[in-house]
Amino acid sequence: MTTAQHKIGSGFDGTTTAAEVVAGLDLTGKLAVVTGGYSGIGLETTRALAGAGAHVVVPARRRATAEEALRGLGNVEIDDLDLGDLDSVRAFASRFLESGRAIDVFIGSAGIMALPETRVGPGWEAQFATNHLGHYALANRLWPAFRPGARLVSVSSRGHHYGPVRFDDLNFEHGYDKWLAYGQAKTANVLFAVHFDKLARDRDVRAFALHPGRILTELVRHLERQELVDAGMVDESGRVTGGTKTPEQGAATQVWAAVSPQLDGLGGVYLEDCDVAEPAVDGVRSGVKDYAIDPVLAERLWTVSAELTGVNAFA
Ligand SMILES: NC(=O)c1ccc[n+]([C@@H]2O[C@H](COP(=O)([O-])OP(=O)(O)OC[C@H]3O[C@@H](n4cnc5c(N)ncnc54)[C@H](OP(=O)(O)O)[C@@H]3O)[C@@H](O)[C@H]2O)c1
Repeated sequence: MTTAQHKIGSGFDGTTTAAEVVAGLDLTGKLAVVTGGYSGIGLETTRALAGAGAHVVVPARRRATAEEALRGLGNVEIDDLDLGDLDSVRAFASRFLESGRAIDVFIGSAGIMALPETRVGPGWEAQFATNHLGHYALANRLWPAFRPGARLVSVSSRGHHYGPVRFDDLNFEHGYDKWLAYGQAKTANVLFAVHFDKLARDRDVRAFALHPGRILTELVRHLERQELVDAGMVDESGRVTGGTKTPEQGAATQVWAAVSPQLDGLGGVYLEDCDVAEPAVDGVRSGVKDYAIDPVLAERLWTVSAELTGVNAFA
C-alpha cells in the first residue's frame, strides 16, 4: 500500500450515481476498456463514461447480448472476449494493441459469483480463473497501451470478507465452497490492484479496487430465491429491499475510481461508497480486510498468477 486506507471525505456517498460522478467532467479523447460493460453495473459504467465523451471498448463474452444492451449508445465499440479462456484474452489484447490506441481507463467489472463447482482451462476453479486470472492476463497483455496518467480499476466486493487467497489450494481441489471461492477471487481482485499499483506507479499509472455496493443484477443468476432473501437483496415477496443500490448507484464507485480528480496522487487502496474505505473491524461487514491489502500477499499472488498464465508485463 502506498497511501493510507482511510476516508478522504469525497462528498459523495452510497446514494451517488455514476452520472453524478461524471457531471462536469469532459472525457472527450479518453479511451476506456470496460470488461462486463454490457450488464449490471458494467453497463451503467459504460453509459456514464460514454455519456461524458469517452470512447468505451466493451469486450464481450456474448456479442449479441452486448449489441442488444448497448444499442443506440454512441462512443461504444464491442469486441469478443472470454476471460475464462487465455487464448481469447490474448487474441483480444492483440487486436487492441494492433489498433495502436492508448488506454486511459481499464475497468475489470466482469465477474461471476457463487456458481456450482466449475473448471475452466487446465482445471482452474472458474471464479478464480475468470474474476482474477483473466483480468490479470488481460491487463498485463494490454500494459504497453496504458498511457501515463491512466488508471486500472479492479471491481472486487465486500465478498472478499469471506476469506483470503488459499495459496495452498487455489483451485479448491479440496472441499469446494461456492462462497469461499467467490471470496478468494474477490480478495485476489484487491491484491491484484495493490501490486499492479506498486509496479505501474513509476509510469504514472495507478490502480484501485472497490466494493460497488449491493445491487440486484444478473450476477445472482446462480442463486435460489431464498439465498437472495438471506442475503438481504429481496424480501420474501421478491421486492428489492432498502439498502440495495440501483445499478446507476452501483456503478458510481468504479466510475469515481476511474476518473475522479479527487483520487489524483493516490493508488493501491480499496474504495466503497465513492470514498476510500476504512480498514475492516471484526464483526462489521464493511471496510477492507488486512489480508486483501497486504503487500507481501499481493506480490505472492502476482508471482503465482504470472506462473499460471505465462504473462508478466513487468518481468
Ligand atoms: N451486484 C452486486 O451486488 C455486486 C456486489 C459486489 C461486487 N460486485 C461485482 O461487480 C462486478 C459486476 O457485477 P454485476 O452485478 O454487474 O454482474 P452482471 O450483471 O452479471 O455482469 C457481469 C458481466 O461479466 C461478464 N462476464 C462473466 N463471465 C465472463 C467471461 N468469462 N468473460 C467475459 N465476460 C464475462 C458477463 O457477461 P455475460 O452476461 O455474457 O456472461 C456480464 O457482462 C462483478 O465483478 C461482481 O463481483 C457486484
